[in-house]
Amino acid sequence: MNAIATPQGLPGQPHIAYAGDQLMVEGVRLSDLAREHGTPLFVYSKAAMLSALAAYQRGFAGRKAQICYAMKANSTLAVLQVFADAGCGFDTVSGGELARVLAAGADPAKVIFSGVGKTRAEMKQALQVGIGCFNVESEAELDVLSEVAVSLDKQAPVSLRVNPNVDAKTHPYISTGLKGNKFGIAHEDALRAYRHAASLPGLKVVGIDCHIGSQITEATPYLDAMDRVLDLVTEIEAAGIAIHHIDFGGGLGINYNGDTPPEADALWAQLLAKLDARGYGQRQIMIEPGRSLVGNAGVCLTEVLYLKPGEQKNFCIVDAAMNDLPRPAMYQAFHQIVPVTPRTDTGAGAGEVYDIVGPVCESGDWIGRDRQLQVAAGDTLAVLSAGAYCMSMSSNYNTRGRAAEILVDGTKAHLIRQRESAFDTFALEQLV
Ligand code: LLP
Repeated sequence: MNAIATPQGLPGQPHIAYAGDQLMVEGVRLSDLAREHGTPLFVYSKAAMLSALAAYQRGFAGRKAQICYAMKANSTLAVLQVFADAGCGFDTVSGGELARVLAAGADPAKVIFSGVGKTRAEMKQALQVGIGCFNVESEAELDVLSEVAVSLDKQAPVSLRVNPNVDAKTHPYISTGLKGNKFGIAHEDALRAYRHAASLPGLKVVGIDCHIGSQITEATPYLDAMDRVLDLVTEIEAAGIAIHHIDFGGGLGINYNGDTPPEADALWAQLLAKLDARGYGQRQIMIEPGRSLVGNAGVCLTEVLYLKPGEQKNFCIVDAAMNDLPRPAMYQAFHQIVPVTPRTDTGAGAGEVYDIVGPVCESGDWIGRDRQLQVAAGDTLAVLSAGAYCMSMSSNYNTRGRAAEILVDGTKAHLIRQRESAFDTFALEQLV
């Protein structure tokens, strides 16, 4: 059971705090936003995104480093614009993401393209706009990419994603660096794959890449992965193939529920010390953080529709659901849930213990379990740490339109995505 956060105290959410009895994102009252725009509503703090980015920038001060925001975490155009304006590159995983990020003003030369299943059409699209690097995940993909590049009279810059076989100690669905995962080229096959890449006419080897998982809360898996990758760099270069950049992926976790991941600058102080000690300190570094740049910059506001007391469980039924916030249903993920305007008038003490559930017709449609809340129908709740992998994973299940989104910048609130209407959800369909 988790008690409600006490006013002012929302750990890990520096730009989201109570001022008196009002939960604010920067200088904007969330109760005002809910009234004006309705719920469910995602609200993001620009300052929180930039301060998360600044921790990485501090960590890399004086180094040759490129931060490529893994846009799958939150790919809304205005969010991408914040990072593009701040000089970020982007990690993309589909032709759709590439089109989206270019529409937001990204520099194609700072875009990398990851993923195990790139199609020929996506390769062509990326070659034509001149992306910075393809992170290739199999030997078969090398052959196809070379063929596509030759047909366009181009050379594709490539980095091979190697699988360092380290345990990221995170949820099995978001662990990617172990042998049984579909990702990357096995450590023992990497040299052969590099030799093959170097022999193909349409490819130019530029780097090496790894990504071991997501919501990682310890430094050790990163340090281990770095050792394994640097061992390979030594081997590959001994074979006469130059590695210009080393990409260490993303994966740094955030505080959802008392998690204590290292700060990005502290983590990189350790990693750079190792890089220096092993003589690779001058190498161009790339990273692909997603969640750690946006996760704690966002909340999802939702209205309490009904309270439904029961023998075994009390339910608090809200207007957000698993189509808006899929992480609890998919990964049993925990998000803190707090009132936007805490009640002080009921005399009911700390309130009741509820399961907070949405309107979707599935028992798996829950947002929080066993939460103590003092709440009544009509109240607005804020689901915290909702900046990453919520809107970007949302769906129209149950023909529910996607929520609207707001970007707060100081005292200004910008509507950055309109709420989808029911009509929007079937606009591309036709009757036979
Ligand atoms: N690079 C690659 C190649 C990736 O596959 C990912 C995430 C990232 C970077 C960014 O990882 P991050 O810094 O965000 O941890 N939907 C799940 C997370 C899936 C992560 C997939 N790959 C969740 O909601 O927890």
